[in-house]
Amino acid sequence: MPHHAPPPLRFDDERTRKRGRRIATMFDRIAPTYDLLNHLLSGNTDVRWRKKAARLLDLQGTERVLDACCGTGDLSVAMLDGGAGVVTGTDFASAMIDIAKEKAGDRIRFHVADTTALPFEDASFDVATIGFGVRNLEDMDAGFREIRRVLKPGGRFMVLEFSRPPNPLFRGVYYTYFMIVLPMIGNLVSGGSDNAYTYLPRSVMAFPGPNALTKRLQDAGFGQVDVTSLTGGIACIHIAHVPDQVPPQRRRGTERLQ
Ligand SMILES: C[S@@+](CC[C@H](N)C(=O)[O-])C[C@H]1O[C@@H](n2cnc3c(N)ncnc32)[C@H](O)[C@@H]1O
Repeated sequence: MPHHAPPPLRFDDERTRKRGRRIATMFDRIAPTYDLLNHLLSGNTDVRWRKKAARLLDLQGTERVLDACCGTGDLSVAMLDGGAGVVTGTDFASAMIDIAKEKAGDRIRFHVADTTALPFEDASFDVATIGFGVRNLEDMDAGFREIRRVLKPGGRFMVLEFSRPPNPLFRGVYYTYFMIVLPMIGNLVSGGSDNAYTYLPRSVMAFPGPNALTKRLQDAGFGQVDVTSLTGGIACIHIAHVPDQVPPQRRRGTERLQ
């Protein structure tokens, strides 16, 4: 999609709209136990991964960073602590945002917003991040195009997401935990009537591998994509670069929130 093209419609078909609503409702419901379960079920590995993501971006203290699908704000905070100049967090589940606000105080601005229709002008940010969120997007390609739109020429988009370990032995042990033990504990602690923690392994299995994800990012208008595997391939960091030279932009007539 060219940089100056209009933004994608939000939830532009009924199926996508329903999926978006279902996901937002699910995260609103698990918000109170989200952080606890994340840290418990990953043995705090998630904290290390977010720090590593900030380190790989090598932030210089001047960057405007958008953390989309920010949830309870852990990646937003990691970006600020990792050297970002200004961080803005967005998510469409308001209960997750409420917790993010409590956590970060006035250090970070948080807004309830859909990643496929962001309330920001073109080329507003130097860096955008999504941690464990692209898998949940009701329309991932629309989300990528929208992130691309709000990034400046030369900007970067960091995706931190679960992946499938390449080693068959390690994969076997990990899948047993991920598909059997994790949903049991997760649904028990969160009172899982809508099976949020059964959805987690299912959504990871359906998610594209590193090469396919790279292609989807490039189809959305990004150039070079650098991939870093984490913890034997359980997770992956993709850093997608916006080419330096882009056509002149047409500004969107949306409210500027920052
Ligand atoms: C697994 S959580 C990750 C939260 C956080 N980034 C982290 O690192 O822990 C995924 C988040 O993506 C959000 N999300 C999914 N689709 C979204 C969309 N289309 N727009 C905004 N937020 C979305 C959910 O509400 C949820 O808070």
